[in-house]
Amino acid sequence: MHYPYQITSLEQYKQQYQQSIENPAAFWNDVAQHFTWKKPWNQTLEWEFTSPKVQWFQGAQVNITENCLDRHLPQNAHTPALIWEPNDPTEHQRVFTYQDLYDKVCQFAHVLTNNGVQKGDRVCIYMGMIPELAIAVLACARIGAIHSVIFGGFSAQSIADRLYDAQAEFIVTCDGAYRGAKDIPLKAVIDDALVGNNTVKRVIVCTRTRTPVSMLKGRDVWWEDEVKKVESQQQKHFPAVAMEAEDPLFILYTSGSTGKPKGVVHACGGYMVYTTYTFVNVFQYQPGDVHFCTADIGWITGHSYILYGPLCAGATTVLFEGVPTWPDAGRFWDIVDKYKVNILYTAPTAIRSLMGFGIGPLQGKSLSSLKTLGTVGEPINEEAWHWYHTHVGKGKCPVVDTWWQTETGGVLVSNLAGITPQKPSWATLPLPGVAVQLVNDKGEEVTEANEEGVRSGNLCITAPWPSILRTTYADHERCRTNYFATYPGKYFTGDGALQDADGNIRITGRVDDVLNVSGHRIGTAEVENAINMHAGVVESAVVGYPHDVKGQGIYAFVIYQGNHSNDEALIRKDILQTVTRVIGAIAKPDKIQFVTGLPKTRSGKIMRRILRKIAEGEWQHIGDTSTLLDPAVVNEIINNRL
Ligand code: PRX
Repeated sequence: MHYPYQITSLEQYKQQYQQSIENPAAFWNDVAQHFTWKKPWNQTLEWEFTSPKVQWFQGAQVNITENCLDRHLPQNAHTPALIWEPNDPTEHQRVFTYQDLYDKVCQFAHVLTNNGVQKGDRVCIYMGMIPELAIAVLACARIGAIHSVIFGGFSAQSIADRLYDAQAEFIVTCDGAYRGAKDIPLKAVIDDALVGNNTVKRVIVCTRTRTPVSMLKGRDVWWEDEVKKVESQQQKHFPAVAMEAEDPLFILYTSGSTGKPKGVVHACGGYMVYTTYTFVNVFQYQPGDVHFCTADIGWITGHSYILYGPLCAGATTVLFEGVPTWPDAGRFWDIVDKYKVNILYTAPTAIRSLMGFGIGPLQGKSLSSLKTLGTVGEPINEEAWHWYHTHVGKGKCPVVDTWWQTETGGVLVSNLAGITPQKPSWATLPLPGVAVQLVNDKGEEVTEANEEGVRSGNLCITAPWPSILRTTYADHERCRTNYFATYPGKYFTGDGALQDADGNIRITGRVDDVLNVSGHRIGTAEVENAINMHAGVVESAVVGYPHDVKGQGIYAFVIYQGNHSNDEALIRKDILQTVTRVIGAIAKPDKIQFVTGLPKTRSGKIMRRILRKIAEGEWQHIGDTSTLLDPAVVNEIINNRL
């Protein structure tokens, strides 16, 4: 069986792509008919990229959870919606049918409203990968509260900044979270984040690890107690609140080239249509298939392709609490075998890390259920692509290389599994509705190609797709300057790309000061700010360098005051500790080189290009340094490079 909007041949893709670009409103108007709306729209699309202002399905009312849950009940109440695999494989899995998930979401929607949460309020969710995380997210959407999920690896300081930016009044968290052999004390981190906070009124704490926690009277309540109250009052069904199609559904913070993460805002209607459409088409989902996306719900991939896209499509989605290498490097393959997974969607960094263990961990695991493999988050090198294709997919599963971003909400460039051609390390063709353009630094379309017909430039999108970000929370000007001002009239992705004569796109990586470490975006300015918080640090500069497993590693050049020659190792540890405290462990530099000066222009600007070359081991190709304030500093840095 196919979904009505499912593309089933290359010819059809070409035709639909053409139609969607010529008349996006007509195209998406047709796709959107296959969803449940409380009220139809007056106008499919209105837009301009100057302010910017984009409105899809204006006048319509919708609740995404009616599409994720209610509409599946008549036919598929007993279909598994969510399969939860715990961190510890000896603990029991939990399976939620659509009916179960519906019941739990309604129940928690009552808990939220009983605790004073109203439509439009911001609810911060800081939890491990347990079913209650999915339930909390969907319950927010049910009542029209705006969720802001924060990845469990972020520090108290990062949470505090996000709570402040969103003026959040509510938090849902856990006592702790399991991740491999680790036990992370989430509630204690929240307590630290709340020191000095004056917006948060209520913290709902779900029990997971039974780590002792401190509960503040009047502010903190237990999830389980609140659920019991709802049960005793027989509060069951919760009517889905009518949302305008353009009302915000959620905020998700992401790094940019400035020191402060920005709150990307997605709107209810367009996000729903686009994530579902792309889920079905990219992975070629068929009813009954089991979909396993290994991302964390704390990132956009988890929002769009563990929860919203799959659930709107009535799919069975796997939620995995643990990590790929614990208790051993065969964990993904055990899960595929156990649940007969049909679609596996993971990150190149996970593939490279598992490659390091050889094919031993794959042996004895049946992977024959697999039909589609996917990657996301960073460029995949050919070696990793072939390993994935050969050893995991046994040469018979298409690999979809999906390029997209937090800001795009859903996949913009990817092959469609088994329908459009794959090309190792190329994301290939844009999805219907996605008008790509490569531009030079002046914003002019690149027309010159090399002898193989390949053009190279900065990747822009020239018209809106339904799940484009609408704004950055409480700061629309920031949205404009970040994405729409570099090349007026176009959305600038921040990525560089190649395009071949057939239109295939290959992402070459960020062209701004954003690093991509293990598929996670981290701004160099953010890491520098964190390092500079250390009392002994005078100044620092951070750049990326190629890393075998992580894709990019973080290289920090640090000017440290005073005598550090005796105990460099200890100072390094202190700096790492500082970064962990300010941002989180994901932003810890892999290398810290102490320097006496940084290469700067006469106007005081740090020449990152030079530092990047040194970090990449390309110091022979630095080029002209005569315009520097102090050229000698470069030699010193080269001589002491790590
Ligand atoms: O540089 C691109 C890279 O990840 C960035 C977006 O990061 P984030 O917003 O965290 O979202 C990641 C998950 C969607 C992009 O600007 N990126 C993402 N997917 C790919 C990729 N680079 C190359 N190939 C991809 N498939």
